[in-house]
Amino acid sequence: EALPYDLFEAIKALKEKLNAVIIAHYYQDPDIQDVADYIGDSLELSRRAASTDADVIVFAGVHFMAETAKILNPDKLVLLPDLDAGCSLADSCPPDAFAKFKAAHPGHLVVSYINCSAEIKAMSDIICTSSNAVKIVNQIPENQPIIFAPDRNLGRYVMEQTGRDLVLWQGSCIVHETFSEKKIIQLKIQHPNAEVIAHPECEPPVLRHANYIGSTSALLNYSQASDSREFIVATEPGIIHQMQKREPNKKFIPAPPMNNCACNECPFMRLNTLEKLYLAMKNQTPEVTLPEEMRVAALRPMQRMLEMSI
Ligand code: 13P
Ligand code: SF4
Repeated sequence: EALPYDLFEAIKALKEKLNAVIIAHYYQDPDIQDVADYIGDSLELSRRAASTDADVIVFAGVHFMAETAKILNPDKLVLLPDLDAGCSLADSCPPDAFAKFKAAHPGHLVVSYINCSAEIKAMSDIICTSSNAVKIVNQIPENQPIIFAPDRNLGRYVMEQTGRDLVLWQGSCIVHETFSEKKIIQLKIQHPNAEVIAHPECEPPVLRHANYIGSTSALLNYSQASDSREFIVATEPGIIHQMQKREPNKKFIPAPPMNNCACNECPFMRLNTLEKLYLAMKNQTPEVTLPEEMRVAALRPMQRMLEMSI
């Protein structure tokens, strides 16, 4: 299929025609971030999806994010440029195994990180993101035992911050577990004034070196507010596009992966391209759908999150 010469203009025209909104995560390709109406971290994007009056939501992110938009907007068409844009963390928590895990821990409240499938959300009591996990766990009565799923690194971080004992599902993200502590130390020696800023999905040996830990938006805001001129960024490097836009004179160094052959970009996020985004809008497919019963069950813990993180 022949593509238009100016994809940016063609996408803008389709946006008008469809009354569509383009919502993109910071880990998307810079071109996609530039064409989006809204960019943000997972909590901001969920809020955007919950409040939009557009007829069509084009979700430039991974499947669980688009699915979350559909959970909140059953009557809207939700498009995902590439349906194969999954998430290793969401995949690390299969529903059957999680049902058994839950059954093995009766009486526990289930707090699940938004990076999970609708099936897992439907089995959860409250959803959280990296920006509100600590706040949400702090609102749960002290004597209430809690299961935290699926990310063990965020879970461990929440345990440290709240002093609570959580039963952790042992999931993790392939991007955030790839950063090398040794290479971060080497970079710190080469750049003694650089601050290390890290996402809580990173492993403890990396988080140990962080001057600041937070969600993608929190890292972006911190890098702007800090007096430092140099930052070693331990999260998916897509966020550096916005950091550099806000602070063209600061230096942002992506934290290197352990294996020299590996790359620290999220392979799932990067499946979406500007071309696929255009084609999804033009053809109004691929669409994200889910069974109504599951949607309703997954909506309840999402609403609790939105209420508890005001
Ligand atoms: P946040 O943008 O909420 O920090 O999430 C990061 C992430 O891993 C998304 O996949
Ligand atoms: Fe999933 Fe990790 Fe990619 Fe985020 S960065 S979408 S958690 S695999």
